Amino acid sequence: MKKISRNDSCWCGSGRKYKSCHLAFDEKLDEYEERGYMIIPHDNIKNEAQIEGIRKSGVATTEILDIVASNIKVGMSTEEINTIVHEETLKRGGIPAPLGYMGFPKSTCTSRNNVVCHGIPCDKEVIQDGDIINVDVTTIINGYHADASRMFMIGNVSPEAKKIVEVTKEALDRAFMALAPYGDLNEVGRTIDPFVQSHGYSVVRALCGHGIGTEFHEEPQVDHYSSPNKGYLLIPGMTFTIEPMINEGVFDVDILEDKWTVMTKDRKLSAQWEYTVLITETGAEILAK
Ligand code: MF3
Ligand code: CO
Ligand code: CO
Repeated sequence: MKKISRNDSCWCGSGRKYKSCHLAFDEKLDEYEERGYMIIPHDNIKNEAQIEGIRKSGVATTEILDIVASNIKVGMSTEEINTIVHEETLKRGGIPAPLGYMGFPKSTCTSRNNVVCHGIPCDKEVIQDGDIINVDVTTIINGYHADASRMFMIGNVSPEAKKIVEVTKEALDRAFMALAPYGDLNEVGRTIDPFVQSHGYSVVRALCGHGIGTEFHEEPQVDHYSSPNKGYLLIPGMTFTIEPMINEGVFDVDILEDKWTVMTKDRKLSAQWEYTVLITETGAEILAK
């Protein structure tokens, strides 16, 4: 990349000279880089208009999950969940991002009991009393993406199932609370991993959170397990998901014949919750939940 001169117009598109716009900001990032942090590319840091776009998509995503929450029940097929998500997305002027994404055949993912993620809705799969099920909704509005998922506990769930659902939610909330501008993205894994291990659970390593915005999956990769290394620097304007997948038994997974469904290797339970978050000047904000 050609190095920008002090009197050039700034890369951010403000029209101001670089020296009176983002020069000091870039120098600050260079210092962090020297200290060992990874820095995401500039065009991955969202401007106000992009943040507004993602925020709007996030509001729709949250509303759609609220509607799933008030309708999901025993005897319903996962295909019916898919129909709700599809129709509610269109009503809000959105496109369900999963539909056709790398060949995914449906508008949402429904992942029941020992399914870790990417379960494909199906009219033959009927929700049973005692199930725990994740519904994952990703909405595109005006090209902006937001991604969130929740667990639903159906009827009389066992104490064991209830516990993994609640511990996973708390792990996500703790990771969100650990976010701070100019902090380390790897704090996410360093917060989640010991907490869930203290409950005897394991963190899935094969799948991760991700940057999101103009694309479904962008830089950075967001690991949910502990790393001793410095990771990406958290910069105001970064938008990404945190979506820990927590297993009752081993963290290993299988991918089924359909090429999508991810299942626990030992067929024990798994739970997941997902937020889309924004790093701000003072902390972090949840854009979709
Ligand atoms: N929503 C999932 C995520 O959290 C991705 C699903 S990809 C799909 O990243 F193709 F299965 F939809
Ligand atoms: Co995601
Ligand atoms: Co998702």
